Amino acid sequence: MSAQAPVDRATDRSGVWRGLLVEYADRMPIGPDTPIVTLREGGTPLIHSEFLSELTGCDVHIKFDGANPTGSFKDRGMTVAISKAKEAGAQAVICASTGNTSAAAAAYAAKAGLTAAVVVPKGKIALGKLAQAVVHGATVLQVQGNFDDALDVCRDLADRYPVELVNSVNPYRIDGQRTAAWEICDQLGRAPDLHLLPVGNAGNITAHWRGYREYHADGVIDSLPLMHGFQAAGASPIVRGERVTSPSTIATAIRIGNPASWPFAVAAADESGGSITAVTDRQILAAFRLIARNGVFAELASTASIAGLLRMHEAGQLPRGATVVCVLTGHGLKDPEWAIAGAADPTTIPVDADHAARVLGLA
Ligand code: F0G
Repeated sequence: MSAQAPVDRATDRSGVWRGLLVEYADRMPIGPDTPIVTLREGGTPLIHSEFLSELTGCDVHIKFDGANPTGSFKDRGMTVAISKAKEAGAQAVICASTGNTSAAAAAYAAKAGLTAAVVVPKGKIALGKLAQAVVHGATVLQVQGNFDDALDVCRDLADRYPVELVNSVNPYRIDGQRTAAWEICDQLGRAPDLHLLPVGNAGNITAHWRGYREYHADGVIDSLPLMHGFQAAGASPIVRGERVTSPSTIATAIRIGNPASWPFAVAAADESGGSITAVTDRQILAAFRLIARNGVFAELASTASIAGLLRMHEAGQLPRGATVVCVLTGHGLKDPEWAIAGAADPTTIPVDADHAARVLGLA
């Protein structure tokens, strides 16, 4: 065996998950010569929620995409986009981001030996995400504007300069993100009845719907889920039916006023019989805390799917006994500020077990 195989698709016999481009190779836009740039993304847990099932009368599962290597679902698309960029001989990649795309682009570009530049809205991305871009060696540009402005800058740059755009307007990103739907079906042994997820730039809902439709067309599943997407109320252009010029929400990951995949998101909701609606910041924060108290530390924006579930339940919109999947798109450690906010400082104690026991009410 050579010391370093050119790709590792055939060398791993451990049975451990090998990353999306290997696990779903037959459904991916790759050939034998495509260099596989992977951090072994995907294969994330589908967690049954007893608590949410009991609360709603449904069978609720959480697809925890925060368990990806860089802590968000963006890795699913980035393994494909960066592999294809490398195959095409690109030297540099660029993206606009509310933080997670830039973290993934920086990591995968670093793995591939490519240069990455990321353009983010100044002061509006979580510290953990900024740290990721920096530590992986990406050049970070803060734009004096919001995500939509940053994407305009990147599109213009990629049009006129030799850099590859790796936002979800790059079709390879969508190709990779379809895998979340396939994994859910593979894990459940069927398609869910309802699929709930947060919506920002709307690439993910587009990709998941494509994934389900392809599995259905190929006879892997015999039904399709209703797709229910949730925007933050202060950044809900699709719900309002018009561009929002100054989007505002505490869920900075989905603080987007002019989603690039807008028409595809509407098509996913319409074709599936689902919907795209808004949840308030208050509802998102309550959902974030609730799901954390049940063992899953998800990023604030990603819990819009749980906020949506609770709202649909309260409105009597959930069919009893339905199989529901809520996607949690990012990890809570991206932005611990929301976990700590309002919490009391930990109690300081001397090195004394009896003292600790008194404080804990054990003695
Ligand atoms: N959840 C998280 C944690 C996100 O980071 C994003 C988007 C979304 C949901 C929405 O997904 O854009 O496909 O509808 N984040 C992008 C970024 C915009 O730059 O990281 P979408």
